[in-house]
Amino acid sequence: MFDGLPEYPWKKLKPYEEIARQHPNGMVDLSVGSPVDPTPQVIQDALIQATNAPGYPSTAGSLELRQAIVDWFALRRAVPNLSTDQVMPSIGSKELISFLPLFLGLGKGDVVVQPRVAYTAYVVGASLVGAEIISSDDPDEWPANTKLIWLNSPGNPDGKVLDVPALRKAVKRARELGAVLASDECYAELGWGQWAETRIPSLLDPAVSDGNQENLLVLYSLSKQSNLAGYRAAFAAGDKNLIQPIVNLRMHSGLMMPAPVQQAVIAALGDHQHVLVEREIYRSRRDLLLSAVKNYGFTVSDSEAGLYLWASLGEDCWSTVRRMAELGILVVPGEFYEAGGSEYVRFSITATDDKIAEGANRLSNAIKLNS
Ligand SMILES: Cc1ncc(COP(=O)(O)O)c(C=O)c1O
Repeated sequence: MFDGLPEYPWKKLKPYEEIARQHPNGMVDLSVGSPVDPTPQVIQDALIQATNAPGYPSTAGSLELRQAIVDWFALRRAVPNLSTDQVMPSIGSKELISFLPLFLGLGKGDVVVQPRVAYTAYVVGASLVGAEIISSDDPDEWPANTKLIWLNSPGNPDGKVLDVPALRKAVKRARELGAVLASDECYAELGWGQWAETRIPSLLDPAVSDGNQENLLVLYSLSKQSNLAGYRAAFAAGDKNLIQPIVNLRMHSGLMMPAPVQQAVIAALGDHQHVLVEREIYRSRRDLLLSAVKNYGFTVSDSEAGLYLWASLGEDCWSTVRRMAELGILVVPGEFYEAGGSEYVRFSITATDDKIAEGANRLSNAIKLNS
C-alpha cells in the first residue's frame, strides 16, 4: 500500500469537536469550507433536464461546455480569445490538483512549489509522485529543479490576493525555470474591501501573461460561488500543450465529468445573477463575524477575499482552537496549512446566518465575561 501520505489531518480536530459539541446551545462549526446555501434553481433545473444520459460523456467536455467556459473567462476573468481546446472540465478541482504532478510526469528529484500558507492538496500531489514540496511565496527562492509552481489567489486559508505585479513576477521566474505555473483561483468572485469593486486578476489575464500562455494553467471551481460542491464541478484553462495531453491521460483513466453535471455547469456559467446573490449573503456573514473576531482580540491578516478569516491571538494555534472549542466554536488550526507550527486559526463563513450570528454572539459575550 502507498504510505507516502500522513494521516488525514482533520482527525486531530476530533477531540476539540467533542468539546465544542458539549456547549449547551450546540456547536457552531466554522471549520469546514463546505457551502450550506441551496444550489441555485437555474442550475438544479439544468441538471434535472439532463438526467437521461445513457452514453459516456466526453472527457474533454462537450463543445457547448467548453464554449461556455471560454465565454465565461472572457466575461468574468478578463481572459479573451481562449480557444475551446485550451479548456477542460474536472471532477471538482481537488482531484486535478492532486493528480497534476502525476499527469506532468514529475517524480523524485523534482520540486513542486506551493504558497507558504497553503491549501492541503498541493502537498498531496507532490507526495503521490515522490517530488519534493517547497513552501515559498518568493520567486527568487524557487530552486532550479522546480517543475511545478502552485499559486492560490485568493488564498485558502489566508484570503491573500496576488495583484498583477506579483503575478507577473511569478510568471517571469517560472519562465526562467521552464516550470509549469498553475494558479488555483476558485474564490476570485468573492473579493472584499479593495477587491470588492476591482477584479481579482487571473494568471491568464493578458496584463499578467502578455498573451503568452505557454506553461500556464488556471484551475477554477464552482463549488463555492455557485453552491455546487456536491456536483463536483470545476475546470481548467491555459496552455493547449498542457491541456490536451492531460485530457488524453484522463480519457485513459476514465476521469469524466458526468453529462448531467456538464449541463449544470453550462447553466451556472451562463447566469451571473446567482453569484451576486450568494456574494451578498457571504458579505453580511463576513461583516458580522469579522467584527466579533476583531473585538474578541484577534488580529486578522490578509482575508481580503474568499470564505475565511485568518486570525491570530499570538499564541500556539492549538491553544486558540481549544479556547474557541470551549465557547462551542470549532475552527481549524493554522498548522494544517503552515509548515513548522502556526499561531493562526481559520474561521470559515460558510455556515448559516443563524450559526454565524450565534458564533458572533458567543465571542462578544466571552469578552463581556472577561472584562
Ligand atoms: C484553494 C482551493 N482549491 C481547490 C479547492 C477544491 O475545490 P473543489 O474540489 O470542490 O472543486 C478548495 C476547496 O476548499 C480550495 O479551497
